[in-house]
Amino acid sequence: MKIQVAIIGFGRMGRFYLQEFQKNPKYEVCYICDVSPVCRDEARRLSPESKIVADSDEIFADTAVRLVVLSAVASDRKARIEQSLRAGKHVIAEKPIADTIEHEREVVQLASQSDLFCTVNLYLRNAWYHHTIKQFVDSGEIGDLAILRICHMTPGLAPGEGHSSEGPSFHDCGMHYVDLARWYAASEYKTWHAQGVRMWNYRDPWWLQCHGTFENGVVFDITQGFVYGQLSKDQTHNSYIDVIGTKGVARMTHDFHTAKVELRGVTQTIEEEKDFGGKNIDVLIELMAESILTGKRDSRLPSFADAAIASEYSWAFFNDSLEHDLPVKGDLGILEEIRERRRNMTDGYGLLPRK
Ligand SMILES: NC(=O)c1ccc[n+]([C@@H]2O[C@H](COP(=O)([O-])OP(=O)(O)OC[C@H]3O[C@@H](n4cnc5c(N)ncnc54)[C@H](O)[C@@H]3O)[C@@H](O)[C@H]2O)c1
Repeated sequence: MKIQVAIIGFGRMGRFYLQEFQKNPKYEVCYICDVSPVCRDEARRLSPESKIVADSDEIFADTAVRLVVLSAVASDRKARIEQSLRAGKHVIAEKPIADTIEHEREVVQLASQSDLFCTVNLYLRNAWYHHTIKQFVDSGEIGDLAILRICHMTPGLAPGEGHSSEGPSFHDCGMHYVDLARWYAASEYKTWHAQGVRMWNYRDPWWLQCHGTFENGVVFDITQGFVYGQLSKDQTHNSYIDVIGTKGVARMTHDFHTAKVELRGVTQTIEEEKDFGGKNIDVLIELMAESILTGKRDSRLPSFADAAIASEYSWAFFNDSLEHDLPVKGDLGILEEIRERRRNMTDGYGLLPRK
């Protein structure tokens, strides 16, 4: 029998989930819920066999629903996670798992007391390219892991646009990279120093670089910013990871279509180029399906604790940047031009569906 799943929040991410569930024969999307009538109309069009609702109560009352995907906004998430677990449903939550650090800790506690499976879309943990690099590192080819350099800069979500309640770009997006560095280091953060810039005179730094150490001596630097040529005629981005060992290196870059991995180890040089894989939701839902069907949680599923730690450190790094010199570059007029351009773009970085 297929796993009956409900999607709550049918914006950009909710639609990605629907696409992947529709491709996976283990699932049937029985409900889609969104408060926006425009999004509900879109849901009816894309998934005529699902029941489309404005209120999630019916979903929690339906005992046939085994899995709930929470892809609305973070302010709503803690209450929905509590409801899901009370109603006996497994959960895939978008990040962050709640809207404040305190709520995130409470949600972690709640999940740890439940036999139901909870996971979160820390999508980089499900990427083929990071698994390829990690395996190479674990094989000893680069010697001892020493330095992690991660960079992700795109002309994506501008300040004040979209889910700004989920924090500045270093929290909203940067938490993925904070999590990724911790995943590679397999250790906890120990020290850090962050530098930001208040681009376009916006109140929060929208570009931030943090460097520091892990408990096991691995050092890291993470650069994240949605400040990469928003007004350039032809936009581009710069996204890479450099994993440096005492003997060799492993690195990757991507153009959002293809990911390229380059491994320079002591006995092997490997270059691999494959489909980027987007948000890897196909991998996440397959791991969840196997967990539900076998009754045994797949250890590769990212945990709520992983998400809460990543969120907490991305706030810590962000707050550290506020303690140092924080220059301003540009003005609010440029920011307005950027917002206006994004409002009218049909093909751009991280554009949200129109409501
Ligand atoms: N894992 C990732 O890589 C990743 C990437 C982007 C966004 N996200 C996260 O996913 C979530 C959704 O982001 P998005 O880009 O799809 O945003 P979005 O604005 O496109 O979609 C959110 C949808 O939720 C709906 N909604 C809001 N409150 C609701 C409620 N109470 N009940 C039902 N529906 C409700 C909105 O109408 C909207 O359609 C955010 O928390 C965001 O941080 C994660």
